[in-house]
Amino acid sequence: MTHIDYSSTIPNNVNLNEDRKIQRALEKWQPAFLNWWDNFGPNWAAQDDIFLRTAVSADSKGWAVFDYVKMPDYRWGIFLADPVEDRKISFGDHMGQDAWQEVPGEYRADLRRLIVTQGDTEPASVEQLQWLGKTAPSLYDLRQLFQVNVEEGRHLWAMVYLLHKYFGRDGREEADMMLERHSGDEDQPRILGAFNEATPDWLAFFMFSFFTDRDSKFQLASLAESAFDPLSRTCKFMLTEEANHMFTGESGVMRIVDRTCELMRDADDVTRLGGIPLELIQKYINFHYSVSLDLFGSEDSTNAANFFTCGLKGRYQEEKIADDHKLSSPERVNLNERLQNDYIKDCERGVERWNKCIQKHGIPFELVLPSKSQNRRVGRYANLDAYGVDLPTAPEREYVASLMHPVVEPGKFASYIVPPAKGVHGNSIDFEYVRFH
Ligand SMILES: [Fe+2]
Ligand SMILES: [Fe+2]
Repeated sequence: MTHIDYSSTIPNNVNLNEDRKIQRALEKWQPAFLNWWDNFGPNWAAQDDIFLRTAVSADSKGWAVFDYVKMPDYRWGIFLADPVEDRKISFGDHMGQDAWQEVPGEYRADLRRLIVTQGDTEPASVEQLQWLGKTAPSLYDLRQLFQVNVEEGRHLWAMVYLLHKYFGRDGREEADMMLERHSGDEDQPRILGAFNEATPDWLAFFMFSFFTDRDSKFQLASLAESAFDPLSRTCKFMLTEEANHMFTGESGVMRIVDRTCELMRDADDVTRLGGIPLELIQKYINFHYSVSLDLFGSEDSTNAANFFTCGLKGRYQEEKIADDHKLSSPERVNLNERLQNDYIKDCERGVERWNKCIQKHGIPFELVLPSKSQNRRVGRYANLDAYGVDLPTAPEREYVASLMHPVVEPGKFASYIVPPAKGVHGNSIDFEYVRFH
């Protein structure tokens, strides 16, 4: 097990103190990061104590501790999953060869682009959620949001480390750019569309965590297959944190659905009781699902084919697939769609669980994933709005916004959501997850 060095300025399990040049470069980047967090993160809660999880090892068991932390003091660090001894490349033209510990010159530009594209989403999501906590439906939810925020910050560190360590001056410039593009900025927007969308309310946040963080899961999982071993190990560890982000989304939507169903016993129109109608929840699904599908890129893509052939990016759970791991050329060209289909299956399982909740209440209503041609901006179905788009209208969004009042008393919850099944890390639901100062 590689232990994390907490004595240095930047906690890490990559022996940063033996790598003076990279350490100095990162120590120079660190104040820029903190300055960015100060400006674009949840700066309004900087003085509050938040009950947060911090990574303390890259081990699969017991890798984190929980304690009160002020977010600007959070120990963002660089953690890679333990190396697999004698790891071999598991797909593509280089299959069977040793995994790369350095970047091969011929793939440098492509690898950099993959890392930058993934890395850019991490600070983007912090920016998108900057003010959301001001209307949290409970202290428990506020804590969940901040946990996601600090971990997305750490994911940025993970990608910035790779850029600094393996890509020289270009890498340092890309790392600086990560703090210069901003979500929704007219001149310098974030790279991918979904990360420039606003996240105006808590239903949108839960949908974002369910649908958009799940795209991250699939991107990270296929990068975890990469022949470039440091990228693989980085992504493997990020996936452990990502799981909690998706849990936040899935359980958050579930709790809103559950509350709506409860309210439907007392009123046909739940908006009279401060609930969110199931029909409107469906429209939110339509929106977040479609913008997240766009994140997979064009269904048919020669870039994706090349990434696979060269060993840069594998399929979801590549090593568990029983085939030759080489693929025909039409299959290679279609890899983005294949990953998207894996993603869709994963989304379906969550939607099924939401529907079980609706059934439990005896309500004849079913949430569905819309056709993947709906509301698309990228790929085969881009701008075919003739297929019909059923998205939340402006008055509907305004209604949801009107429900967004902060609830800050421990154990109390907003009108539109039920409490979670259990608290965090063995604590009760009415535990003081955030102490305001
Ligand atoms: Fe992330
Ligand atoms: Fe995430």
